[in-house]
Amino acid sequence: MVADRTASLTHGGDAPTPDFYSYRWHPVTSASVDGDFVIVGWSDGLTYRCYKYWLRENAVDAGGVDLATREGLIDPAFHLDELAIGSASVGADGSLQIRWSPESVDATYHPGWLRHVAESKHLPSSWLPEPTAWTAESLTEPPTHDGTNVFTDPEVLRAWGDDLMRYGISRLSNLGTDHDFGLKLAEHLKVAVRDTNFGLAWDVKADITMAGSADTNSTANSNLRLGPHTDLPTRETPPGFQFLHCVVNETEGGFSTMADGMAIAAELEANHPEHYEALCTLKWVFFNRGPGIDHRWSGPLIDHGVDGSPLTFRAFYPVRGFPDMAHQDMPRAYAAMKVFSQLGAQDRFRMAYPFAPGDMVGFDNRRILHGRDAFASGGKRHLRGMYIDQDEVRSFVRVANRTQAAGLDKPELQSQSNRIQQES
Ligand SMILES: [Fe+2]
Repeated sequence: MVADRTASLTHGGDAPTPDFYSYRWHPVTSASVDGDFVIVGWSDGLTYRCYKYWLRENAVDAGGVDLATREGLIDPAFHLDELAIGSASVGADGSLQIRWSPESVDATYHPGWLRHVAESKHLPSSWLPEPTAWTAESLTEPPTHDGTNVFTDPEVLRAWGDDLMRYGISRLSNLGTDHDFGLKLAEHLKVAVRDTNFGLAWDVKADITMAGSADTNSTANSNLRLGPHTDLPTRETPPGFQFLHCVVNETEGGFSTMADGMAIAAELEANHPEHYEALCTLKWVFFNRGPGIDHRWSGPLIDHGVDGSPLTFRAFYPVRGFPDMAHQDMPRAYAAMKVFSQLGAQDRFRMAYPFAPGDMVGFDNRRILHGRDAFASGGKRHLRGMYIDQDEVRSFVRVANRTQAAGLDKPELQSQSNRIQQES
């Protein structure tokens, strides 16, 4: 009978894993060989078929994975054609035991690690909240988290990050007005800031002092309305998230506006299917016309990308250059684009909220259509902006959620690394 070691081995059991994370010890109760597969089973009936080469690559104690880096060591060019599963059995502690043939080497597999694969928790969607579409009725302002203790209370950032993934928008308040706060937060989160021709951190400044006009060459820095849009559709992969930190606001009006592209896409698919099809398939060339740069990319206004990649809206008419489609498709492409743009500006989809100094709003630049109402009065408004890609934000949210689930007070990765250093 296999002893239940769940309670005592919450931070890894007797078998190392091919990564630095902690897995609950979840004893395997059966192991059998079926040709080139090992079928492992657990007491609740769940089974998983493990293909031989995949198992061999993940044999941490038999040369499959480097213990220091937890990266794979086996070049597939050297996979043995004659590799076979000599035997598969359940160890006394509930681990999976494999004898490899013809090598005659033994490998032990952590049953909790195998279990997480059987439960699909190894997929990129793991440890992230499901995206939830919203309208102005269900979300009247960004979900807000008090950022007073943002650098000392990891729960603040974990909850804020979850809302970024769930709603595509989330606000931290009470952050102060340090102009470099965003960069400091990125450093604290150990995430890379996405550099562009605007720089790592950039300004959105309005100084409306002369008959309601600002001295600027950019619409963003004027007092004018900005229609719903996404930034930098001129890039192959537009920035994943945008963060705007308010350091000064003396103006009235000029509310930020946000509309959820997921909700608009659902509306188009349900009630304007011909437009939806045109928006998802007909491409446009977007390009930056600045002196000394020539960024351009061609893509549809609604891009679902490859399977599993985030929804991407390319919606910024100032840099939309040319229809990249057959001439006969242009009338339906323009008709669909008009309906899409009108929906994005409708009050039922659009939340509008003011910026207070010390607020920082993060939003999914590829999902959320953002804009700004016209200013109602003069004065100064200064936002500090930065972009951080999806990969970085998702990594931070996964680590935060895994760390919380493991009951640790430091990032799980760091905790495990320290343990390895202590052991070596
Ligand atoms: Fe923008």
